[in-house]
Amino acid sequence: MPKGCQLILALDVETKDEALALAKPLAGNLRWVKLGLQLFTRHGPGVVDEFAALGFQVFLDLKLHDIPNTVASAIRSLRGRPCSLLTLHASGGPEMLARAAEAARDALPSCRLLGVTVLTSMDQAQLAAVGISRSAESQVQLLGAMASQAGIDGLVCSPLELPILRASLGTSPLLVTPGIRYPDAKGDDQSRVMTPAQAAAAGASAIVVGRPILKDPDPAGMTLRIRREIGETA
Ligand code: C5P
Repeated sequence: MPKGCQLILALDVETKDEALALAKPLAGNLRWVKLGLQLFTRHGPGVVDEFAALGFQVFLDLKLHDIPNTVASAIRSLRGRPCSLLTLHASGGPEMLARAAEAARDALPSCRLLGVTVLTSMDQAQLAAVGISRSAESQVQLLGAMASQAGIDGLVCSPLELPILRASLGTSPLLVTPGIRYPDAKGDDQSRVMTPAQAAAAGASAIVVGRPILKDPDPAGMTLRIRREIGETA
């Protein structure tokens, strides 16, 4: 991934046809799309090829988490797929992460792995329920440092965690953040948010944006506005 901040469009829809209808008009005006478990489990891994064939870089958001051998095997099963970013849960532990990194170097040499630290759906009470008493922020730092040490290329994080992760991990890890909103946005389920320009200034390598583009009356215009604001295009 080049230096500077990039826009990734989250194609959070039910079917490939819906996703294609949203993405096709943006080809040429957008580099990245994110495909999630929903499309992957419905249509199979060939969905990656279809979006790559349209000229998009594909972020495959599978959030893998299993024993090291199974995660490494799943990554090897993606051999040759044109995906450029792939997620896994950092909480799978150092051995799972190291084995995943090794498998990706072998089977997907041009794909970067991103560790998911603490899901934003996990608040302090949810963390306590699974036995984690430290704050979400310090858990993010612990998992982020562990993932970096295990050879994972970057992290998915909240925009509010960008400054602290940049301070502790430096400039090299990719930090990819959802939770992007404009101040005038109508309320939805994202609460800890930043604007595209704020996230870029705080050190994001890429921002993941779904509804602000998908629900805009002019998705192509909104795509261009965001790319300009983060300095991805003139
Ligand atoms: O529509 P919206 O811009 O909120 O989409 C954000 C995308 O980022 C969605 O695909 C969502 O699942 C994902 N995401 C998130 N928060 C996280 C991790 C992923 O919003 N902590």
